[in-house]
Amino acid sequence: MRNIVSASILSADFCNLGRDIKAAEDMGCEYIHFDVMDGMFVKNISYGLPVLKSVSGMTKSILDVHLMINDPIRYVKDFAVNGADIITFHVEAESDVKKTIEEIHSCGKKAGLAVKPDTPASELIPYLEEADMILVMTVEPGFGGQGFIGEMLDKIKELKSILAEKGLEIPIEVDGGINSSTAELVKNAGASILVAGSYLFGAPDMKKAVEDLIR
Ligand code: DX5
Ligand code: ZN
Repeated sequence: MRNIVSASILSADFCNLGRDIKAAEDMGCEYIHFDVMDGMFVKNISYGLPVLKSVSGMTKSILDVHLMINDPIRYVKDFAVNGADIITFHVEAESDVKKTIEEIHSCGKKAGLAVKPDTPASELIPYLEEADMILVMTVEPGFGGQGFIGEMLDKIKELKSILAEKGLEIPIEVDGGINSSTAELVKNAGASILVAGSYLFGAPDMKKAVEDLIR
């Protein structure tokens, strides 16, 4: 599977968000990763619909929305009409997983299913046929700039082999602590979509940083 970088704008300069998104696109990021946090599912609160709407008006990149919220099904339509292309929600959230995937599909969008570090890969098995992407959290969700949890490599490998057994070709995305060295590890384990925030937006040379992630 082709490697893709999804730039997490949680680490962008919000006073210059358009400029930073344009830079990420120009440097080769195919996806823009948009983290939504409600202060309940995770401790932090980020940004939501009006910001997504503005972002979708200025970019043609794939908007990769990561919902870290308690009841995602309530908001699927809102995120769809405000510009999301992929809507990813957590298997640990309160909404019925199958119904939420159906709702995302009924809005004509791709459905991603995310899993926190402490949740076993087996929790995802009942939904793999319906999902368009799996997101393995490689840090505890809530904040950018945390260290990569090495144990998640086994989870990625396990999911990769479960998907292969089932003959499913959906991509595995990873999110949290991705830099040039952890990128190598997660790609070898089977991930192909790499979310990167602090590494990209803090890089002295973003183009080189993106190349180091996808090579
Ligand atoms: C964390 C978010 C991530 C975060 C990643 O809950 O889901 O997308 O921005 O940041 P880095 O790449 O700095 O670990
Ligand atoms: Zn994220």
